[in-house]
Amino acid sequence: MSRPMHDGKLPLTELGAMANRGERIVMVTAYDYPSGRLADAAGMDIVLVGDSAAMTVLGHSTTVPATMEEMLMLTRAVTRGAKRPLVVADMPFGSFQVSDEDALVNAIRFVKDAGADAVKLEGAGPSLSRALALVGAGIPVMGHIGLTPQSATMLGGYRAQGKTAEKARRLLEDAVALEAAGCFALVLEAVPAPVAARISERLTIPTLGIGSGAECDGQVLVLHDVLGIYQGRSPRFAKRYAEIGAEIQDALERFASEVRSGAFPSEEHTYAMPEDELAAFLEEPSDSRAGSRAEA
Ligand code: KIV
Repeated sequence: MSRPMHDGKLPLTELGAMANRGERIVMVTAYDYPSGRLADAAGMDIVLVGDSAAMTVLGHSTTVPATMEEMLMLTRAVTRGAKRPLVVADMPFGSFQVSDEDALVNAIRFVKDAGADAVKLEGAGPSLSRALALVGAGIPVMGHIGLTPQSATMLGGYRAQGKTAEKARRLLEDAVALEAAGCFALVLEAVPAPVAARISERLTIPTLGIGSGAECDGQVLVLHDVLGIYQGRSPRFAKRYAEIGAEIQDALERFASEVRSGAFPSEEHTYAMPEDELAAFLEEPSDSRAGSRAEA
């Protein structure tokens, strides 16, 4: 009798079916066990262990410094927490640019060592051959075009892409080529809404928009933007659904203030011991007094 390997895991093929039914797909980034668990409990379809972790979690000013070892550690933590959603590991800069072989070795580590269900690759061009190689090896690949932060310098900064007819047409061509290379979904970042709509209409695989309008098949946001934790400048599309950063700071300030005033810890946060044991403990044994005098 055959049984699914992961009980309750959303099947990858269900994403296309959702898009066909007009059900929007929801993806959020997560970088650790608790956020993976919470994303699962909140009903996310996909959890992306994004290389945005380099900025949101590790304090770098771009995503470029993220390493394989860092991304593997974060992915392992997320897969321990997120059971139903598909967990997609973002391949960091340098892990797939050199060759198909490099891309394969690194993608296999994400799937085999860290438990990821799929990987994400930025760009088209050489990424097409990488996607073909990974899909050929049985590793599902999510594409990512438009604003690709790993090549932000080449793109002239963190700005919307595809704003001229020619550039929009190139994006459409890249999207079609990534689908042909076997990608199961495509992130469209900072693409004008009508361009994203045309790409979504043209492809058979689902598109996931971030700053690309409402006509994509789903949406993705960075967790720290959603929660209001990230302190740096956020893009205009990063809607904040909470101000958890301010709440964390407030809690820490109240903790510090109570320690300094002596209000914490109070009796309810303290362990007691039986009276007779305490009395025996406080009564110094006579030979230990003798020992300490002798040493003195
Ligand atoms: O690294 C990341 O968080 C991403 C999303 C913005 C799609 O690539």
